[in-house]
Amino acid sequence: MSAPMLIALISQKGGAGKTTVAMQLAAGLALEGYRVAVADLDAQESAARWAASAPGQTPFPAEVKTLRGSPAELAKGLRKLANRVDIVVIDCPPSIEHPHTTGALELCDLALVPVVPSPTDLWSTRAIERLILERQRQRPKLRAALLPNRVMRTALAGDVLEVLQEFSLPVLQTPLSQRSAYALSAVRGGSVFGLGRAAAAAQEEVQALVTAVLGLAERTA
Ligand SMILES: Nc1ncnc2c1ncn2[C@@H]1O[C@H](COP(=O)(O)OP(=O)(O)OP(=O)(O)O)[C@@H](O)[C@H]1O
Ligand SMILES: [Mg+2]
Repeated sequence: MSAPMLIALISQKGGAGKTTVAMQLAAGLALEGYRVAVADLDAQESAARWAASAPGQTPFPAEVKTLRGSPAELAKGLRKLANRVDIVVIDCPPSIEHPHTTGALELCDLALVPVVPSPTDLWSTRAIERLILERQRQRPKLRAALLPNRVMRTALAGDVLEVLQEFSLPVLQTPLSQRSAYALSAVRGGSVFGLGRAAAAAQEEVQALVTAVLGLAERTA
């Protein structure tokens, strides 16, 4: 990977899993040997708090940097961070109108949209898809994909996932299921990779996501 890669987690709806995916993905990429940083653009500072929960002897495997300010300051902060690492994972606030979200969308190489398979999430995904498609018209190099998260084996989830296929953006075939390991690793300040064999299924899911994201990066280069 020559130029640093910027991956933004964005969604209109709160609680879709931006922070969870950002942190698991960052940890998974770090395990692959990449130098990774997380840029926390959300005033809730969930990513920063997550990393701060780590015990001293096992810090979170990526630096988490809180970035704030005007669009110009944000761009400068992201560039500075990107200079030190191979991949910056950007955790955005839960609004597509927020200047930090639009700023991240302006600068990132890949926008990942976590979508919980529920009807309300589907509706809000339509709005974000419109915004991304519009940005892609201006900036054809921008890649984007929907990522099903908190997937459960229910008829409703199945139906919603089917509807997702009709969206213009590609749907990553590496969903994350609803699993307590994802929430537990936040409490512990780590990732599912630090939870041992009990979290094997979650580890496999994140590993598959890491591979998919790196595949997208290769095609961007
Ligand atoms: N795959 C999953 N399995 C189980 N719990 C999950 C999963 N993904 C997210 N969660 C839980 O759902 C809640 C919301 O997730 P998260 O904070 O990552 O969403 P977010 O999009 O960052 O929210 P916000 O919009 O408030 O920033 C958290 O309690 C998190 O632990
Ligand atoms: Mg969040």
